[in-house]
Amino acid sequence: MTQDELKQAVARAAIEHVPSGIIGVGTGSTANHFIDELARIKGRIDGAVASSEATAQRLKSHGIPVLDLNAAGELEVYVDGADEITEHLHMIKGGGGALTREKIVAASSKKFVCIADGSKLVGMLGKFPLPVEVIPMAQSYVARELIKLGGQPVLRQGFTTDNGNIILDVHNLQIMNPVELETRINQITGVVTNGLFARRPADILLLGTDEGVKTMKAR
Ligand code: A5P
Repeated sequence: MTQDELKQAVARAAIEHVPSGIIGVGTGSTANHFIDELARIKGRIDGAVASSEATAQRLKSHGIPVLDLNAAGELEVYVDGADEITEHLHMIKGGGGALTREKIVAASSKKFVCIADGSKLVGMLGKFPLPVEVIPMAQSYVARELIKLGGQPVLRQGFTTDNGNIILDVHNLQIMNPVELETRINQITGVVTNGLFARRPADILLLGTDEGVKTMKAR
């Protein structure tokens, strides 16, 4: 199976985790497959909260109502992809730059279902550069602080987040303790959020493999 077929398979499997009511929807190519699957059962839900403008557009194109998170309240489930995920279901996210809204919708949801093809499962996080959303005027200061933590921050060229900020992609981090690093980076003044999802990991991982979709819970 191709990587795209594996993404499609996990997106289809995630439909079993969709309750009635309002759900949270992530961003990226795997989440896009999920939105396409969701369209087939859209009568079952009242609507969705989107983690990005791109996701909102795709939901609307399928006729799925997009709701404001403040009006929706606590969500039953959030479904999204990941750039890397461990067996503890700690993740790096934000390859598409939507990390802040993704983290907000995930935090507002009772259950986080991560959908990913097998290539995303890693022993240790950090090979994928860690995205950090930063207020533009803090770029140099935050970059210096990230270097002190052992990383090599690189500005994502020509990219502005949905919130009007920049992204620094931090290379060469060996992330032994994701919960601690997530907390430390978020304490740097000027950081909006970082792409470590460890304090609030996924609850379930649907992993696409050639042997089928595996369901994993945190170890
Ligand atoms: C978007 O900002 C990201 O967090 C995505 O969830 C992540 O990059 C996974 O993307 P793909 O599903 O395209 O691999």
